[in-house]
Amino acid sequence: RALLYRLWKGNVSSKMLNPRLQKAMRDYLAANKHGVRFRGRREARLSRSELLCELRRRARVRTLDGTEAPFSALGWRPLVPSVPLGQLHPRGLRSCAVVMSAGAILNSSLGEEIDSHDAVLRFNSAPTHGYEKDVGNKTTVRIINSQILTNPSHHFIDSSLYKDVILVAWDPAPYSANLNLWYKKPDYNLFTPYIQHRRRHPTQPFYILHPKFIWQLWDLIQENTKEKIQPNPPSSGFIGILIMMSMCREVHVYEYIPSVRQTELCHYHELYYDAACTLGAYHPLLYEKLLVQRLNMGTQADLHRKGKVVLPGFRAVRC
Ligand code: C5P
Repeated sequence: RALLYRLWKGNVSSKMLNPRLQKAMRDYLAANKHGVRFRGRREARLSRSELLCELRRRARVRTLDGTEAPFSALGWRPLVPSVPLGQLHPRGLRSCAVVMSAGAILNSSLGEEIDSHDAVLRFNSAPTHGYEKDVGNKTTVRIINSQILTNPSHHFIDSSLYKDVILVAWDPAPYSANLNLWYKKPDYNLFTPYIQHRRRHPTQPFYILHPKFIWQLWDLIQENTKEKIQPNPPSSGFIGILIMMSMCREVHVYEYIPSVRQTELCHYHELYYDAACTLGAYHPLLYEKLLVQRLNMGTQADLHRKGKVVLPGFRAVRC
């Protein structure tokens, strides 16, 4: 509970996490499996508006467009959608919802409010069927990690979760963002199922995030955090928030910073308990959340009762 109050105030250090999570963080720092070499400075001095401008300037959404090696030689240019992700809604959406998969959203009755937004972003295999009252049933964009495309248990090819939505996939690449190295050794090989899916459903907008975008987000989190963060990509949640900030005038994020319903239940749709899902082990999730807390322009009551953070879209910020 004490940690929850501190999260709401933006006043948490990794030292307050349980020993198991602290050990996991230390192990990830020592392993540095993606070869992160941070050259910037670590501080947390920017004001809310400075931070917003910095994000707008540097967190430009980028997806594979097939023009770079090795994808150019592999014939990807005509394979990727002809309309870039950033131009699907050229005039921008008004108000958008980002729905985290956290167990804390159960019994929230937020479904109606979530569906009232112009667009709704969800993650991985998070369902709506059976959970409408708490999470709504509209899905506009779904962000999926490479395991969703490669693990047969997710039925990527035939599940209705992945139909009639904008799909955005990603996979952890080396920090160098060397596309040749990544292509040869992705975490999970998402390239083959991506090509198959593009051929079968050429009209469905389906993108792969550029590793440079993902690591740029990581740099921004580290530059604005005093502690050393895990040298692993940000969570899908943080990536999704930034994608929606670039597409919408206002972004409402649900149960990223936990509400009073905070629980160790990892996902609302799965009977599995682990505090790491909310506070992070592999991902620098705690630090992502502290950064998002600094940007919140919603009320404290909405944060506590709904687990809701309100952020301006990049079009709405003056720099
Ligand atoms: O687990 P998964 O990555 O599919 O969940 C989507 C996102 O929701 C995570 O990347 C994380 O940012 C957020 N999340 C959370 N707390 C949880 C579960 C998920 O903040 N308990």
